[in-house]
Amino acid sequence: MSDILRRGRLSSTPDEDMINFTSSMSADKWIFEADILVDMAHTVMLHEQGIIKEDYCSAILRGLLKIREDGIEALDHSYEDIHISLESRLIDMVGEDIGGRMHSGRSRNDEVATCIRIRLRDELLSLAEELIELQSTLLDKASGNIETIMPGFTHLQHAQPTTFAHHIVAHSDAIGRDIDRVTEAFLRMNKCPLGSAAFASTGFDLDRNRTCRLLGFDDLLDNSMDAVSTRDFLIESVSVMANIMVDLSRMAEEIIIWSSSEFSFIELDDMYASTSSIMPQKKNPDSAELVRGKTGTVIGSLMSLLSICKALPLSYNRDLQEATPNVWNAVTITRSAVRISKGMISSMKVNTGSMAEKSVMGFTTATELADTIVRSCNIPFRTAHQIVGVLARGDGKPTLGQIDVAAYGIIGEDLSHRGLTEAMVIEALDPVLNVSKRSIAGGPAPDEVKRAIKKRHKEKEKKYERISGMNNAIEKSLNVLFRVVDGYTGK
Ligand code: ARG
Repeated sequence: MSDILRRGRLSSTPDEDMINFTSSMSADKWIFEADILVDMAHTVMLHEQGIIKEDYCSAILRGLLKIREDGIEALDHSYEDIHISLESRLIDMVGEDIGGRMHSGRSRNDEVATCIRIRLRDELLSLAEELIELQSTLLDKASGNIETIMPGFTHLQHAQPTTFAHHIVAHSDAIGRDIDRVTEAFLRMNKCPLGSAAFASTGFDLDRNRTCRLLGFDDLLDNSMDAVSTRDFLIESVSVMANIMVDLSRMAEEIIIWSSSEFSFIELDDMYASTSSIMPQKKNPDSAELVRGKTGTVIGSLMSLLSICKALPLSYNRDLQEATPNVWNAVTITRSAVRISKGMISSMKVNTGSMAEKSVMGFTTATELADTIVRSCNIPFRTAHQIVGVLARGDGKPTLGQIDVAAYGIIGEDLSHRGLTEAMVIEALDPVLNVSKRSIAGGPAPDEVKRAIKKRHKEKEKKYERISGMNNAIEKSLNVLFRVVDGYTGK
């Protein structure tokens, strides 16, 4: 049939180059299913409002079910988007007198905005579930390494002893906040633009609340101008994803460093490693490098979205079509990076010996020695800091005698006269005791980390329940939609 969109106003047809330039068909595969849901809900509502007759409603719904069954491949891909292609197919199937009524009171502007929200909310909920699995894996890894001593770093210089569990819980907490951000983005996004038409709503007596409920949205996106114009939900979602990727990338960076011979803290499972085409001995942490690299791509998607949207006047502009694929690209990468990170972490081998050995390198116990001097000799921390700083110029394993010499040079007095003993010095220099002393809230002491892990597990369960509730609510609404459709199609 002739192009249902262009045949009225336009005479010449676009050539292949122009079709390729303007069409969104390839990215629209993401919203094929959603578009059929939107068409169904709109059609049912049109009938319920007395705008189309029941037989028309039934015929359209039957056509839509068939199109759904045949899949996107059966559609004509030469149209400018999925909406027109689908409507044309419907008209081919049921005739224009019936199929041509489906788009009453609607525009592709509210249609596409609704479709994107329907698909993206599912992606966000799946992403949240995958993040929860990653967090579980991190917490399990931490549980197995409560007493695994390692050096902690600032500026990538040896700083103080900590445990691998404490370090891993830090990453797990970042992922916990990522989960919260995803669910919050979902809540702001799950609002229905349908019924806004081009931007000024419509004179047809549509029941927006009905389509909103049938499609599983929590509420209307009220103002019809805003509803079709905004893509802030894309920006917010991809910004949340960029944050996730930055968190994963920081983890990946550590995995890369830790796998090097210089560190040798961990070894990735062979499944997550690659080798060299020339150097037969190489085992490279490519999956972690790609998590780090793909972070750049997701940040790029966010930059594209911001730049595309920044100067658009209200309401709809075709530029918005260019925005959408960025979210599909970002969500594909982010979800796979979360899954790959989980696999890398759960299967990696932890070299506890190497971590313990390096935990005291670079005089990591210096802070505890200064603190011990403060507590036992009643001198200000700043003075103790100077005394230990002088000792740090040596090999970093000072004896009481050396401490006395340094102190004498600074305060003109031996610290042994003020109560510091050899036993206190030895204790201060022990990395295991350093860690066990740090037992205040959030510290690396084993019991404190055990408490932290338990608490995180509980929080995670609550988040999981919340996300399941969101999924169930959508499923329930869509079940109602399908039951209503079945009622009209005699299934
Ligand atoms: N393919 C378009 C998009 O993704 C659908 C909306 C087209 N609307 C229009 N007025 N040209 O934005």
